[in-house]
Amino acid sequence: MKSKVYIETYGCQMNVADSEVVASILNDAGYSATEEIAEADLILINTCSIRDNAEQRIWGRLKSLGHLRRKNKQLKIGVIGCMAERLKEDLLEREKLVDIVVGPDAYRQLPQLVAEAGSGHKAVNVLLSREETYGDISPVRLDKNGVSSFVSIMRGCNNMCAYCVVPYVRGAERSRDPHSVIREVTELFEAGYREVTLLGQNVDSYNWKGDNTALGFPELLERVASINPLLRVRFSTSHPKDMSDELLNAMARHENICRHIHLPAQSGSTRILKLMNREYSREWYMERVESIRRILPGTAISTDMITGFCTETDEDHRASLSLMEWAGFDFAYMFMYSERPGTRAARKLKDDVPEKVKAERLSEMISLQNRLSAKSKKADIGRVFEVLAEGRSKRSSDFLSGRTSQNKVVVFPAGDFKKGDYVSVLIERATSATLLGTVK
Ligand code: SAH
Ligand code: SF4
Ligand code: F3S
Repeated sequence: MKSKVYIETYGCQMNVADSEVVASILNDAGYSATEEIAEADLILINTCSIRDNAEQRIWGRLKSLGHLRRKNKQLKIGVIGCMAERLKEDLLEREKLVDIVVGPDAYRQLPQLVAEAGSGHKAVNVLLSREETYGDISPVRLDKNGVSSFVSIMRGCNNMCAYCVVPYVRGAERSRDPHSVIREVTELFEAGYREVTLLGQNVDSYNWKGDNTALGFPELLERVASINPLLRVRFSTSHPKDMSDELLNAMARHENICRHIHLPAQSGSTRILKLMNREYSREWYMERVESIRRILPGTAISTDMITGFCTETDEDHRASLSLMEWAGFDFAYMFMYSERPGTRAARKLKDDVPEKVKAERLSEMISLQNRLSAKSKKADIGRVFEVLAEGRSKRSSDFLSGRTSQNKVVVFPAGDFKKGDYVSVLIERATSATLLGTVK
């Protein structure tokens, strides 16, 4: 009988994609993935270090796994991903909760490390690589809907935003061979998938060099979109300093490239952006938004924002709010600044905004965004959207749930439709999280 691995994933979409690569590597070594933690011989926690609370949550989870260990002496527990990279051997030493520690570029070593673990060996590999993209590995899909999937197109990041731990835990940026991207997406389409999201920390800097040619992101995107018009293509994340009109023009040529751009602003204050080392100003960001509106009318824009970065004043905070109001973001992820050891901000700047102030600013920002999101959804009422059905609605099996090209969730009566179908839906109502409509 095959051994069983249970993989639990935290953090960003990149980790979701990596867990599928890990499942594939382990599958070849005789481990099948299970959704039942109780029957696992191996538990892997794919971790995130982006903010302190992300790590605290994982420590809590590791402690809660202690009872499984006491029940099954053979059970091995591994920490993989960004926190493994950041804490290295410390993870094994601290509280003895873990047998295996493997960083994001060492997953090919997992079968060997798992075999070694427990026999007195320290099963650790956190070497970062300049080349590894796992391009040749066909991920084992762990999702349940079979309609949409993530496809990693690059790894690492070269940007060095002052607050960010990603370049330290993910290493230098490298682009994946476009042939392997096209092959993976084609296979997904043939298996019935109807949507892919191309992933990278900064997709606009995708740059494949090989076969005596160079290939940039707009071209890769067009190639992926050309696989089949019935395949929706999304991507994340765009960096405002690199998001070009060339990309927007490429999107305009393909209806199946979704009309949604995630363009993290982080702050609306040019002074703070400079301290963050984001390499753009408030005005530059606004100009990029205007370009999207001009070239791709009707495109949804979402963002990430940080409150309480080092030295942030009330005036800087108001500049963030006014930028959000001006842009009318459809959606936003908002965070309190969390100092990460070893980053440039931790080394050079003082984390001097009191936690209480960070929290007040965050809640003010969330209220504003709730208003903007509601406005954005209200504007859709009375309009017809093509919705890709992803599965039954959580609330009632008589309804299907899917998304518009703009990435808004729509719930509608299922009728004879099934997941994977494109359905024209007239939007009639909006709740705080979803649009409700009828089939047109
Ligand atoms: N590569 C992407 C984002 C990766 S991290 C980009 O450049 O936009 C996702 C988000 O987490 C970031 O956009 C930022 O808003 C937030 N974040 C990153 N480091 C953080 C920190 N130290 N404290 C609070 N939020 C942080
Ligand atoms: Fe972090 Fe900046 Fe790279 Fe995004 S672009 S992963 S925020 S360093
Ligand atoms: Fe977290 Fe690593 Fe992603 S730190 S946000 S899981 S790249």
